Amino acid sequence: MTITPDQQLIIAVDGHSSSGKSTFARAIARELGYLYIDSGAMYRAVTLFAIENGMISNEEPDEGALIEALDRIHIRFEKNADGTQHTLLNGRDVEKEIRDMQVSELVSPVSRIREVRRKMVELQRKLGKKGGIVMDGRDIGTTVFPRADIKIFLTSEPETRAKRRYRELQEKGIKTDYRNVLKNINERDRIDQSREESPLKMAPDAILLDNSHMTPEEQMEWFRKLLKKKYHADRH
Ligand code: DC
Repeated sequence: MTITPDQQLIIAVDGHSSSGKSTFARAIARELGYLYIDSGAMYRAVTLFAIENGMISNEEPDEGALIEALDRIHIRFEKNADGTQHTLLNGRDVEKEIRDMQVSELVSPVSRIREVRRKMVELQRKLGKKGGIVMDGRDIGTTVFPRADIKIFLTSEPETRAKRRYRELQEKGIKTDYRNVLKNINERDRIDQSREESPLKMAPDAILLDNSHMTPEEQMEWFRKLLKKKYHADRH
């Protein structure tokens, strides 16, 4: 017998850069039959828009121009035939481009802009309003869905995160240097944690998971136990 929570839960997975949030959140969504939403992809898409429209100089976004252009930025997600989720920027599939190093290096300064955040948060709330979702990001449990049913804060040692990210980029055929990846991860953590508007921080009611020495399957086991404890749900 499978007992599942009867309500459509909202599950927030926040945490540090490259801590494996999307792998974990995707696996949870698959197991529960929920929708997975990658909120970082939205900030990445806005960053790509800024790059492509000449709104970056000296590694900094032109705030005024970007704020003015916000109404022309339309982001949505689409599932491919193989089930993978792709990010669309104004109708164009940008899934690969938003993962490259140039976007990674500029996304934190872009996501520091208050108006950008407001627009993204509004969109995220719209996507999640019916529940039955797992959303990963930095401020999902604190700002986007402060009343989320389950809040997980994921972290791991910076070197572990950098190694994972480096491997991921290699697999995608994106050329880069390990030291650059580690530097980028540390820099993004620093900016994400110190910005004024909804900084990366653990919600008081979130559960911390350090996955430095855990496999994806061990993380899922941990999640099943958590679900069982909270909802007495048994999943077989
Ligand atoms: O999850 P990610 O590494 O793809 O996110 C990219 C950047 O987007 C991250 O460095 C900070 C920003 N971000 C954010 O500010 N708030 C979120 N909810 C998600 C991402």
